[in-house]
Amino acid sequence: MAEPGTRRQAPVSFVRRGGRMSDAQERAWRELAPTYVHDVPRDAAHTSVHPDARFIPEEEYGRSAPLVVEIGSGQGHAIIHASTTRRDVDFLAVEVYHGGLARTMLEAYKADVTNLRLIEANAPEVLETLLPEGSADEIWIFFPDPWHKKRHHKRRMISPGFGRIAGRALRDGGVLRLATDWEDYALQMREVLDAEPEFQRAFAGDWAERFEGRVMTAFERKGIDKGRDIRDLAYTRVPR
Ligand SMILES: C[S@@+](CC[C@H](N)C(=O)[O-])C[C@H]1O[C@@H](n2cnc3c(N)ncnc32)[C@H](O)[C@@H]1O
Repeated sequence: MAEPGTRRQAPVSFVRRGGRMSDAQERAWRELAPTYVHDVPRDAAHTSVHPDARFIPEEEYGRSAPLVVEIGSGQGHAIIHASTTRRDVDFLAVEVYHGGLARTMLEAYKADVTNLRLIEANAPEVLETLLPEGSADEIWIFFPDPWHKKRHHKRRMISPGFGRIAGRALRDGGVLRLATDWEDYALQMREVLDAEPEFQRAFAGDWAERFEGRVMTAFERKGIDKGRDIRDLAYTRVPR
């Protein structure tokens, strides 16, 4: 569904969730957003990114360190775990779910995390223009919305052309990590990324080993409970 009053042409991989925020979530947006959220100048839609806007990691984190970008960070479980256990690395969560970002901020504050920033925006636009070329060491996409009905497949984020977008943001040798519990989306991811000239497989055999930095989330738990196989994939950015 396009956001009201916008003129986005391409389908997006999300539907904005409404719903009331709790008092704590409202407070997080009021009090913690100035610390954690990078405000993005918008283009047409509320979650769009103005093509002239830039996120300069050294300025945002006040240092030069490896950068890991998580796309669709949900409630923030993976990135909070990662940013608290790897203080020498900088982390960026990109999400359109307002309530999930609030929860992520609350957890970051509790854990006294300083190496995490959040962006509320459509992730492909962040990769395509907002991040400097070659600035990310890793990009993580865990349990992206599967859009399982055939007529919705055009909304899937990992579709032909995604290699160019992700490959732009990643440095040479950087790693794209993915996980899903939807077999046919896993197959599509592998087919798409095998064919993209920017990437090569970083695994032998059919699938990658479970990425050790990936914590169990409700989405993975639900997939397991339904008897689905969890598929991990990892691809390396080939030198430009
Ligand atoms: C199925 S959830 C998985 C969340 C989390 N990675 C996990 O494993 O718990 C997918 C998330 O991706 C977000 N998302 C989908 N498309 C997006 C986009 N184009 N840009 C940013 N976030 C997106 C959704 O809002 C949602 O929170």
